[in-house]
Amino acid sequence: MSIDVFISEDQIQKRIKELGEEISRDYKGEEVIVVGVLNGSFMFCADLVRVLKFPVITEFMAAASYGEGTTTSGDVKILLDIKTDIEGKHVLFIEDIVDTGHTFKKILAMIEKRNPKSVRIASLLSKPARREHHIDIDYLAFEIEDKFVIGYGLDLGGKYRELPYIGVYNPEAN
Ligand code: PRP
Repeated sequence: MSIDVFISEDQIQKRIKELGEEISRDYKGEEVIVVGVLNGSFMFCADLVRVLKFPVITEFMAAASYGEGTTTSGDVKILLDIKTDIEGKHVLFIEDIVDTGHTFKKILAMIEKRNPKSVRIASLLSKPARREHHIDIDYLAFEIEDKFVIGYGLDLGGKYRELPYIGVYNPEAN
């Protein structure tokens, strides 16, 4: 097997700097609570907060989707919640990938009940072909076709999250 590079480390880091500039301009002078959605977002979140030009409060949530095999049932459970009171605050979610949209449908429904001032989403990847719920992504690094990608936070059975690039798993290569 081999892993082919799909989006290189340089491409990712260049795009993160661009997003960092855009986000820094948009939130200039505001207080923002950044929420990384674990596990997949840990690397994107770590790199993105480092290029923001304003101080943020960093929090994490964890969600898990239960389905069989590669299908998703849409039954998303929140495994870890944030500790900060977000009422009247700007919340910026950081996610590795928006796929069907089930995860954000659940998270947004829960978060909006807490009356934040605003809620936005920054995602490394989006697969629009897989969408089952419309999700507005405010800051998107890369839109991709429906292919199975790993690395830079994304896993295959818990492995490969540590790769500094996004790759495509090729089980047939030597
Ligand atoms: C992945 C990803 C998103 C979610 C997106 O998480 O990190 O949170 O799926 O899919 P959706 O739009 O179809 O809901 P996963 O449940 O694989 O957990 P992980 O982050 O721990 O890898």
